[in-house]
Amino acid sequence: MKRFGRMGAVLALTLSMVMLGACGNNNGGNQANTGNQATKAPAADTGKTKEAKDITLGFSQVGAESGWRSANTKSIQDSAKEAGYTLKFSDAQQKQENQIKAIRSFIQQKVDVIAFSPVVESGWDTVLKEAKDAGIPVVLTDRAVDSKDTSLYVTFLGSDFVEEGRKAGQWLSEKYKDTTEDINIVELQGTTGSAPANDRMAGFAEVIASNPHLKVIASQTGDFTRAKGKEVMQAFLKANKDIDVLYAHNDDMALGAIQAIEAAGLKPGQDITIISVDAVKDGMQAASEGKINFIVECNPMLGPQLMEIVRNVVDGKSVEPRIVTEESTFTSEQAKEALPSRAY
Ligand code: AHR
Repeated sequence: MKRFGRMGAVLALTLSMVMLGACGNNNGGNQANTGNQATKAPAADTGKTKEAKDITLGFSQVGAESGWRSANTKSIQDSAKEAGYTLKFSDAQQKQENQIKAIRSFIQQKVDVIAFSPVVESGWDTVLKEAKDAGIPVVLTDRAVDSKDTSLYVTFLGSDFVEEGRKAGQWLSEKYKDTTEDINIVELQGTTGSAPANDRMAGFAEVIASNPHLKVIASQTGDFTRAKGKEVMQAFLKANKDIDVLYAHNDDMALGAIQAIEAAGLKPGQDITIISVDAVKDGMQAASEGKINFIVECNPMLGPQLMEIVRNVVDGKSVEPRIVTEESTFTSEQAKEALPSRAY
């Protein structure tokens, strides 16, 4: 009995040390989760949960460059409130260094989860490693990073931007499938180095490559803003007499370009066919007026899904490594129909 008693005590001590090791951080079961994110599953499911009011989410937003971004910010803020979490929100004003600073400050404040929408794809490994070392799980929303080490984040929630570019290319290829003349396309790219700019360009190029008459004659960044979209379109119009198509990586740049096209005495949607991405209210309005011919939807309402992910991560549950948003497309006619009930 005495022997059993001593062995039992050793066993109990060992067990409690193992459990202390698993829970000895500020995030309950989170450290286990970040420790093995390559499999995107927690090493141990402690089954412990925090009350919603005790969960703090640090979110670093890209900026306020577009209607899409404003809708995305609202979705995240509203959903965090609804979920009952404390949200620490930081606006990076389109600057990577501001996002890195914000993430470091979230680490210092020992938030439970960090989420962010990376302004550009590269240059995140160091700060993501710091978060991992601190045992704070990171969720990517909207935009991806190009880190080879996928254990640096739990999941990526957002659109398939390559597919969005493909959809734009498919509509254009269909429109001009019987053309015997060259079609001159100008492209307004999003922020240089950002995932949506890289991917929307690649998806579009991949599809139109099968028709040698579809030619991109100029391609330049408009930084996803209306002002830059207008400025670059003015330059395109000055340098090229015969523009048939504008492909803008978002609605805001297309809307700025429309101002430039109208100022040049041309009719957007008629003299120049316009394709854009997002389908925010202003873009849909322009489409319903026939000024934009085709919009590929990019859904900004990521808040509810993000809060669910945060809950699961805090609870030590496994999360899918990639969660793709469902999206559709709109012709002018379809935009007219959808506009009255459009939420953003
Ligand atoms: O990352 C999503 C893109 O960022 C949206 O298409 C654009 O409008 C925004 O600025």
